Amino acid sequence: MEIEKVLHMNKGVDDTSYATNSLIQRTVTTQAGPIIEESIKEVYTTLRPECFMMADMGCSSGPNAFLLVSRIIDIIDEASRGINRQCPQFGVFLNDLPGNDFNGLFNQLSSFEKDLEEGKGRSFGPCFVSGVAKSFYGRVFPDKFLHFVHSSYSLHWLSQVPRGLVNENGEALNKGNICVAKTSPPEVHKAYYEQFKRDFTLFLRSRSREMVFGGRMVLIFLGCSNSNEPDSLMELLGSTLHDMVLEGAIEPEKLDDFNIPFYNPTVEEVRQLVEAETSFALDNLETITIGWSMDTSQDLETRAKFAAKSLRVVTEALLETTFSHAVMDDLFLRFKARIKERIVVKDGEYVNIVLSVTMKE
Ligand SMILES: C[S@@+](CC[C@H](N)C(=O)[O-])C[C@H]1O[C@@H](n2cnc3c(N)ncnc32)[C@H](O)[C@@H]1O
Repeated sequence: MEIEKVLHMNKGVDDTSYATNSLIQRTVTTQAGPIIEESIKEVYTTLRPECFMMADMGCSSGPNAFLLVSRIIDIIDEASRGINRQCPQFGVFLNDLPGNDFNGLFNQLSSFEKDLEEGKGRSFGPCFVSGVAKSFYGRVFPDKFLHFVHSSYSLHWLSQVPRGLVNENGEALNKGNICVAKTSPPEVHKAYYEQFKRDFTLFLRSRSREMVFGGRMVLIFLGCSNSNEPDSLMELLGSTLHDMVLEGAIEPEKLDDFNIPFYNPTVEEVRQLVEAETSFALDNLETITIGWSMDTSQDLETRAKFAAKSLRVVTEALLETTFSHAVMDDLFLRFKARIKERIVVKDGEYVNIVLSVTMKE
């Protein structure tokens, strides 16, 4: 399976689209606001460029991308006034894989531009927005081009399903699971970590060529608190698929051979990889946790439905490469029931890693 060709979030704006089901991502990015703000103020007031060049890597479609861009522009506008300087022009690059719903994204551009003009006046900026359809695991921009790079909820997606998930006889090692799970053998965890290490290092190396000295980057992605005790919603989705195998609704070989290119590193793994790559100085590395069902004041059914949909919109395209489109509604109904059973005891948690770095001289 060529991940770059098949991975995309659910398109459009309907009930099962990413655009209408990305509240978790929006909430976490908002909670990371002070770190983003600090980073942007610092890079802008230190470098004072005439045109501020920024990229959002893995922007997807829906409201989150333009919300972030608006926030960044507000921060720079305010910082400009603080140092008595005219606000710069902006070059905004929205990056994602070619299968992303770029049309959906750019349908929002005119209302973003209208809001900007109404809020800041005609002579503000201008702000030039472009889409860049290319994997961020490799070069995307020219040398020394960007002042600020942001990425949220994207770097836990690997460039490929790790190799090494079968033994020497060709048998699947991660039977009954679709990611690193409590019942996965250590070889599976190792294979996933090695893939993350290669991908994340390549991401850092590529950005280090594309960013100016002193440029800043804030990355938000899913992690885990303890690599020996995985406890992700993705793992629960794997258990639901396993239930369907036991009931004969899915062929066992299909599940045995299916693994998601998704890895949740620990904070320590991330720290070591940033230090080993050497291009960036680490400014901040922390976690923000948020419940799978977010709003615990809601009834159990609503909470379980919310959590199930949040994962459906990001995994459905990949699942459909192996399991038929016809089983998706059944799978996610069962998944909702599984989530309900779990959160009635205790809500699960997304552990979000927030990393802020500066490009070294
Ligand atoms: C969950 S969405 C996050 C969207 C947005 N940043 C947000 O916070 O709402 C993850 C996005 O990362 C993109 N992505 C994953 N791997 C990528 C890669 N190698 N290069 C570029 N984009 C990638 C996916 O296509 C998807 O649109």
